Amino acid sequence: MRFMTPLNFCWLPIFAIILQSALPAAAIPRKDLDTYFSWAASHANRFGDEMCTTETIAILVKLAFERQGRRGLIIDVGANLGNVAEHFLKVFSLPTFMANAGQPVAGTLDLCQDLNSGLTYYGFEPHHLLFPHLKEKLQPYSTHHQIRVLPVAVSNFSGTAQLYHGCGDVSFQGASLVKTEHLDRRGKCRYKVTVVTLDQKFYHNKVVRQSGIFLLKIDAEQNDALVLEGGWRLLRNRMVKFLIFETWLKTAHGISFQGMVAKLHSIRYLCFLVTKVTLVPLSSSWWQPQYKALGVSNVLCGQSGDRDLFDAYIAYGTNNFTLFYALSNLLGDLDFVRTSLGRS
Ligand SMILES: *[C@@H]1O[C@H](CO)[C@@H](O)[C@H](O)[C@H]1NC(C)=O
Ligand SMILES: *[C@@H]1O[C@H](CO)[C@@H](O)[C@H](O)[C@H]1NC(C)=O
Repeated sequence: MRFMTPLNFCWLPIFAIILQSALPAAAIPRKDLDTYFSWAASHANRFGDEMCTTETIAILVKLAFERQGRRGLIIDVGANLGNVAEHFLKVFSLPTFMANAGQPVAGTLDLCQDLNSGLTYYGFEPHHLLFPHLKEKLQPYSTHHQIRVLPVAVSNFSGTAQLYHGCGDVSFQGASLVKTEHLDRRGKCRYKVTVVTLDQKFYHNKVVRQSGIFLLKIDAEQNDALVLEGGWRLLRNRMVKFLIFETWLKTAHGISFQGMVAKLHSIRYLCFLVTKVTLVPLSSSWWQPQYKALGVSNVLCGQSGDRDLFDAYIAYGTNNFTLFYALSNLLGDLDFVRTSLGRS
């Protein structure tokens, strides 16, 4: 066994990683997949304490935002009181380590911030009592960023519609175009609002045409599926880099969460459930029947073949299960894209 010297042995894990990254998901032994699925499902199904808020995504995608030159819109559908928006504006304004390009000084790094490039943020909040709070909260950021807040609803059509809202104390009430048992209980808590679609609003937008939508966050209280449908042209043309929305069980529109994940996968978006310990893959063969029962949880989607999605997944944190997924599936997908474009 002369070839099994310590030196040779050291290379084995590296070979294993190279081999894994070249294999499609199907090549993972069934036994390991089963362990992975039961592990993921056990984490996905512990509601409340296992789920993470949208804010966790900000720091994950910040690096990607810097790398693409801080370009692209941030769109916030259902901005509510602006808490998520404020978090993103803050995180995206944090300084970054970058080489001092202007006056290179050998061996030094500056902690610097490109103060000339603010963000372009669009917030949609149709609730007439929440809207003024949103506007006021984001006002201080408008000196440095382009902030647009609009008192309109977003769905799969344009025109006007009833907005249903909670009848109690206004500050923490949701509002939706879909009447749920919590909204409009007394039949008096509704009014007409203007409705737009994302395609109508942004498909011909100059900034979107040039740099795309960096992040689309949707929190439209049961109406998320219709917001996505109204932005399908943008999505299909891969003009949205990262997408965050909320899961739903049964709603009036009749679109299942599983169906939406599959539909997004058909245009090559990969989706993940945002749990405390990991991002749980949901698309294609990674879907598990247990996920049908998911309560309100956040979902992150990105484009397959996007290196930044791989990085965000890894940055979220990995263990022996999730690293396996990343190397065999996400990275494998990147390799596939490169090969198919003939750039390998
Ligand atoms: C919007 O979605 C609803 C529910 O699925 C559907 O009935 C309606 O036809 C859709 N409208 C448009 C304009 O696509
Ligand atoms: C992953 O690690 C856990 C302990 O942390 C262990 O029980 C499990 O068997 C490992 N799974 C794989 C696929 O290596």
